[in-house]
Parts: sequence; C-alpha cells; structure tokens
Amino acid sequence: MKKIQAFLFSFIFLLGLAACGNDMKEMETDTSIDYNPKVDTNKENNVVSFGFENHTVTLNSGYKMPINGLGTYSLHGDVCVRSVKSALKNGVRLIDTASAYGNEEEVGQAIREAIGEGIVKREDVFVITKIYPGSEMANPESSIQNCLNRLNIGYVDMMLLHHHDKNDVKAYKAMEQFVKNGKIRSIGLSNWYVEELTDFLPRVNITPALVQNEIHPYYQENDVIPFIQEKGIVVQGWYPLGGRGHSVELLEDTVISEIAKAHDVSSAQVILRWNLQKGVVVIPGSSNPNHIKENTELYHFILNENEMDRINALDRNEKHDWY
Ligand SMILES: NC(=O)c1ccc[n+]([C@@H]2O[C@H](COP(=O)([O-])OP(=O)(O)OC[C@H]3O[C@@H](n4cnc5c(N)ncnc54)[C@H](OP(=O)(O)O)[C@@H]3O)[C@@H](O)[C@H]2O)c1
Repeated sequence: MKKIQAFLFSFIFLLGLAACGNDMKEMETDTSIDYNPKVDTNKENNVVSFGFENHTVTLNSGYKMPINGLGTYSLHGDVCVRSVKSALKNGVRLIDTASAYGNEEEVGQAIREAIGEGIVKREDVFVITKIYPGSEMANPESSIQNCLNRLNIGYVDMMLLHHHDKNDVKAYKAMEQFVKNGKIRSIGLSNWYVEELTDFLPRVNITPALVQNEIHPYYQENDVIPFIQEKGIVVQGWYPLGGRGHSVELLEDTVISEIAKAHDVSSAQVILRWNLQKGVVVIPGSSNPNHIKENTELYHFILNENEMDRINALDRNEKHDWY
C-alpha cells in the first residue's frame, strides 16, 4: 500500500514539475504549484506540505517552518549579531545555531534587538539549536535548559540532537519532555542516515520533525532524502554551498555557472533553488550582507527538468566533513 502511495505521490510530483515549465511567467500565474509530494506521516496522519507560495513547510508537529534560512556556524561576536540582524532585515525568518557553535547568546541578542527595533516579532522567527554528544547528551535536561538560557528568547522552535551518541535516546526523550512543557516546539535529528534512523525511530515517542544532513551537489544523499521524506520528516541540508573552503569550487562549477547565466542569477542561487526543488530546506551560512540578501532571492526562477538532471549528475559522493 505504501509503495502504491509513494508511486502516486511521485507521479503527481513529476506532473507538477512538468507543468511548471522553465519560465517565471508560468510560476507567477500558477501559485498553487507544489514541488514536493505530500507525504503522510506514520503517526497522526499529519501532512507535510512543502510550498513555494508562502516559502514555508508545515512540519509533522503542526508548526510552519521557513524553507530558506541563515546558518550561523562560524559566525561569532559582533559579526554574528550583525549577520543575523541583516538576515532578519532581508526577510529571513529561519536561523540555525547550535550549542557547539558557541554563538547562541549572539543569535539570541540579535533576535531580541530585531524585536526591539520592530523588525520582527518573536513568533515570526524560527530558531533551531542543537545539543552535542558527550557531556551534553549525558545530562540532557541541564544542556537543553542552558540552550534556552543562552538564547533567552522564551522558547526554541526546534531542537536537534547534533550527532548520534550512546545517550541519544535518553537525550531525545528529555527533548520530548521539553516539548510537553512548551519550551521547545519541535524536535529532530542531525547527521542521521538510513541505518541510524531505522534503529532510532522505534525507540522514541515523537517522530522527528526534521533531519538536518550534509547535502550539496557533490554530496547529494539521493538515497537518504526520499527515505526521510516518506516518513513525513522534513529534510534540511547543511553545507548547501559545499561549506567554507569548498564553496568556491562548487560555485565555479561549469554546469552550475552555465545554468546560473541562463537564468541571470548567481551560482549560489542555482544551488539553493536546486535544493528547494528537491524539497530540501536550505540554511546557507554567510556574514556578507549582499550574499545574505541574494540567498533569499530564490523564488523568481525555476530550474527545468534538464537543469535539475544536470545538477543531479554532479554527485560525487564527496563528503566535506567527517560526520
Ligand atoms: N548539523 C551539522 O552537523 C552542521 C554542520 C555544518 C553546518 N551546519 C549548518 O549549516 C550551515 C551552512 O553551512 P556553512 O555556513 O558552514 O557552509 P555553506 O553555507 O555551504 O557555505 C558558506 C560559505 O559560502 C559563502 N557564501 C554564502 N552565500 C554566498 C553567496 N551568495 N555567494 C558566494 N558565496 C557565498 C560564505 O561566505 P560569505 O560569508 O563571504 O558569504 C561561506 O564561505 C551552517 O552555518 C550551520 O548552521 C550544520
């Protein structure tokens, strides 16, 4: 039955893509295009709906999350505060941080300042943070509370386990308790793949709303993405531009540059759009206000099937980090 459903969803998805064509005019006239199959979760028949019209996805927890955001790994101090505020001023409403990045205080400060300056309201911003293996996951209640204290923005929209660990089930169950008391709205995982998910999911009560994994044209995870999405779990890609130290090679890739030229956009925009059309949420990192703005301008062009195929063919199974 599930196979038939998956086939039908894929079929509807392909029909939708075929109907999109490759020019912006068609996108403007048909705002009902859904680029991702709607997938029933295993639990309460919630539906994950990944939409380009409002730039959000509805998570299996019932909350809406923006589909493009700002990654803050390697942003610290004033640079971090300025970058997060610059993103918020440019309409970015999804911010990804982590205990391990050591910048939750700056992220929280930027959000509080932006609220004070009338740029956003708290409920407009979706903040993701993560707790780390080792001592944090061994003492999950205090680690989670420390994240909340450092961010100091009332509640956290999404908390993830940063990697798997011997205490990951215990840590996840602690996050489930914080969901119950309303301090965390949704929970998920990072760096979990098919084998790890297969083992982990039966051992917890709340199905993760999100899995955040390394995804870029040189490391595409084409086997993992549908496996996660079919469970009603949203996939988010880290290192969407290849990660610092690798982004130049990716941005200068001939195929991506040609496609960018054809649409009069940047290579970064092509890669981010490619992710979105695969139903993958993007969180590019940047401290450059021009890049931050450019990385939000992803909704005025459509990659056609041929262009998607050309980027899909760039996969080298080349991971840019160890986890
Ligand atoms: N869960 C995990 O284990 C994990 C691991 C790693 C990362 N992450 C998350 O994923 C986010 C993204 O990763 P990342 O920031 O390391 O790498 P990335 O987004 O793949 O690439 C960032 C690099 O791309 C450049 N860049 C950004 N926008 C650009 C544009 N429009 N044109 C040209 N260059 C551009 C940035 O430089 P400028 O600053 O000059 O723009 C920076 O050097 C992180 O910030 C973090 O939130 C999660």
